[in-house]
Amino acid sequence: MSTKTLLVTGGAGFIGTNFVRHVLTERPTWCIINLDALTYAGNLANFQDLAPDPAARHQFVHGAIQDSGLLEQLFTEESFDAIVHFAAESHVDRSILGPESFVETNVVGTFRLLEASLKQWRSRGKLENFRFLHISTDEVYGSLGSEGYFTESTPYDPSSPYSASKAGSDHLVKAYFRTFALPAIITNCSNNFGPYQFPEKLIPLMILNLMEEKSLPVYGDGKNVRDWLYVIDHCDALIRVLEQGKPGETYNIGGGAERQNIEVVNLLCDLFDSRLDRSTKKASRRLIRFVTDRPGHDRRYAIDASKIRRELGWSPAHNFEEALEATVDWYVNNMDWVELVRSGEYRKWIEINYGERE
Ligand code: NAD
Ligand code: DAU
Repeated sequence: MSTKTLLVTGGAGFIGTNFVRHVLTERPTWCIINLDALTYAGNLANFQDLAPDPAARHQFVHGAIQDSGLLEQLFTEESFDAIVHFAAESHVDRSILGPESFVETNVVGTFRLLEASLKQWRSRGKLENFRFLHISTDEVYGSLGSEGYFTESTPYDPSSPYSASKAGSDHLVKAYFRTFALPAIITNCSNNFGPYQFPEKLIPLMILNLMEEKSLPVYGDGKNVRDWLYVIDHCDALIRVLEQGKPGETYNIGGGAERQNIEVVNLLCDLFDSRLDRSTKKASRRLIRFVTDRPGHDRRYAIDASKIRRELGWSPAHNFEEALEATVDWYVNNMDWVELVRSGEYRKWIEINYGERE
């Protein structure tokens, strides 16, 4: 197994944290520099429980990807074998209420990171094995009707400021491959769930509200469909893409677990009912409230993951229902983490977003 130094951006967020922790275990010769601005979504406490690291395989740098001065300093001090780019503003509802930071981080930030990477790659003789891995989303493809799947050649048709900004960043990455031959790869992934997900997203929000017997806000008719993937399966796919993926290619990553939102919420209710042994059957489902829909709400996402399965031999290893139960366990057993991330800023967000929907 070869030694690698990775620059991971956004490595203190949900998927980034899981990726860093997974790589430290699964690839003992890899080292990580974790660059993160620690917005509301990033949390350094995610690494507090890790064993002391005498080899300094995980180092944290606090800063923003748009800061070209900081990038210049970082790229002068370190030679990277790969950039694994997670850093982004990631929540659709926030992009509707305040789109500007999405353009700044997702578009401008990605551009600055590409520039710094290109400069270093050229100065190191255009190393053949260098990789710029850009982590993107299936939302760039827009919405599906009740039939069909997103493939790597589905035309881009983003609906929200979030997905439009991610589409913009994908186009920049493609341009840096075509124009400058920077060895870049893009992955477009479906909805992730698992430990360390900030409780503004559907699954952790519902888990915490269920724990506290608060109402469960379901947008619209609850029949929008998402294709769920356990975050560790996503991390495995990304390692595979880093090791075997071909520069210039896009790989779609999906869980093959399409569920209507209301099905996911009902399942969580039933899980809580059986755990809490609530005497009345289906007691938790009474907490469900159908609230005003998200503007521009995409109806259905579903990934055709046959390319990554065929070419790189990846497919998800976790079953949706079992992984969901493990995720509930994680939140129930990590209330200290939950309290830490539910800052005053979090409460303000809940008031603004859900206040508007009542
Ligand atoms: P997240 O919001 O949990 O984490 C984002 C991280 O980026 C945070 O740690 C935050 O502090 C950091 N960050 C934000 N702005 C920054 C900046 N300007 N400079 C440096 N760091 C900054 O997001 P996530 O859910 O972990 O998603 C990670 C990536 O994966 C994103 O690019 C997202 O578009 C993509 N993605 C997410 C999902 C999903 O279901 N969560 C699915 C497909 C793709
Ligand atoms: O598809 C990949 C995308 O998945 C990622 O690119 C995004 O970063 C990630 O946030 C996620 O986007 P979604 O908008 O699909 O995820 P979210 O958890 O916000 O919502 C999932 C579905 O649940 C969606 O149809 C909206 C609905 N929903 C969401 C919330 C927060 C509700 O019904 N109620 C809610 O309170």
